[in-house]
Amino acid sequence: MRQHLIAPSVLAADFKQLAAQIELINNSEADWFHVDVMDGVFVPNISFGMFIIKAIKEVAKKPLDVHLMIVEPEKYIEQIREAGADVITVHYEACPHIHRTIQQIKATGAKAGVAINPGTPVSVLEDVLEDLDLALIMSVNPGYGGQKFIYRTLEKTRQLKERITVRNTNTLIEIDGGVGLQNAEAVLKAGADVLVAGSSVYKSEDPVKTVKLLKGIIKNTIIT
Ligand code: DX5
Ligand code: ZN
Repeated sequence: MRQHLIAPSVLAADFKQLAAQIELINNSEADWFHVDVMDGVFVPNISFGMFIIKAIKEVAKKPLDVHLMIVEPEKYIEQIREAGADVITVHYEACPHIHRTIQQIKATGAKAGVAINPGTPVSVLEDVLEDLDLALIMSVNPGYGGQKFIYRTLEKTRQLKERITVRNTNTLIEIDGGVGLQNAEAVLKAGADVLVAGSSVYKSEDPVKTVKLLKGIIKNTIIT
């Protein structure tokens, strides 16, 4: 049986009190911290880089799942790993030599992920599936938290899940953007293994309780 994970996105946290916001999730049932790096070139927004990842790492008691929304990610992979990333995900659309970049991530000892934008078909992952620890399907256009889930993503998830089952690889499917209590069941039923939840967790009244509710949906949806 595969594990199903919840990864709150730090992007939605209150950065005035970052340490406390990380600590909050440390004390929840969440599995990973999702950490969004944006460069203002690949996506129309700038978030943060190594310096902040290092600070998050000092407080976090769960693995850091770092999502690089940047051009030329191969220039920074070693530094991102040193800053504390446990999973490093690059965008297919930003990597002309995706196979090489995946190997570069793995050489650092981190788990390797590739993300695809809403307009990119899952078929582009066909030839690297065996090499991937994680495939991230964007369910919003990357760049901002708090956007509306694109429902076409469910069909893409089903397609990818089928390919992973047929090929019998260990690749985890992660869904990122607009995920919350309202659609977690549908996302899980489509085949997702990791649910990124930014606003739905951090902007909720009680983030710890929201994580618990998401975990409850996993328990009720996944028949073991
Ligand atoms: C979007 C980021 C997401 C974002 C998710 O570009 O990759 O990880 O933080 O935030 P929500 O869950 O609010 O859509
Ligand atoms: Zn992300």
